[in-house]
Amino acid sequence: MARRTTHTAADHVPDSTDVTKLRAAARTCRGCDLYRDATQTVFGAGDPHARVMLVGEQPGDVEDRRGEPFVGPAGGVLERALADADIDRRHAYVTNAVKHFKFTPAERGKRRLHKTPGRTEIVACRPWLVAELAAVRPLVLVCLGATAAKAVFGPDFRVSRQRGQVLPPPEDLAGTAAGEGSADGSSASAAGPAVVATIHPSAVLRSRDRDDMYAGLVDDLRVVARELA
Ligand code: URA
Ligand code: SF4
Repeated sequence: MARRTTHTAADHVPDSTDVTKLRAAARTCRGCDLYRDATQTVFGAGDPHARVMLVGEQPGDVEDRRGEPFVGPAGGVLERALADADIDRRHAYVTNAVKHFKFTPAERGKRRLHKTPGRTEIVACRPWLVAELAAVRPLVLVCLGATAAKAVFGPDFRVSRQRGQVLPPPEDLAGTAAGEGSADGSSASAAGPAVVATIHPSAVLRSRDRDDMYAGLVDDLRVVARELA
């Protein structure tokens, strides 16, 4: 059968709460056009039952080639910031709002330039994120940057206004947290994971004020660490 692009990933997402099964199915996703030019689907990775799930934007050039999230320069910043905030990356699940690399070829040479995913791709790919949340059931969901925050909360969300706050999840993501139905009094209960938005680690790399930006990222992640404690 000819390859066909569908309107969203929904037709491709299996009814499963097993991350391994979701990852396998995502390899052949045609939920939007991004699969055409990218090397491969870059699905979430890490502890499948992590208490914290971190969501980035989309794979970058390095991630597209290697098939894993946050293994390039932004991943280095994230790794260091998590360590400085006392969050163990080995006990985290890391993913992206959009699972294929969106890029444009540089005018000269072979470099591929990152393009910010649009609303179409964010909406198309969201069923994977929802499925990952239902499978991992984290206590805390961290949105790294505007794309992730808009994927979770919708297009009106502003990271600059709400970063570093512990927010309730949007209605359709409630009920996807650990401890659902339990009476342990954790901040993420039947209401779903607590959500914290912060900047994207690559914003640190692009900034002229790297130290300040980095410190702000670590501060926000310390809020996450407190929620996990
Ligand atoms: N930036 C992201 O948002 N995600 C990655 O996986 C790598 C870079
Ligand atoms: Fe599917 Fe998401 Fe890739 Fe689009 S970006 S093809 S929705 S996995």
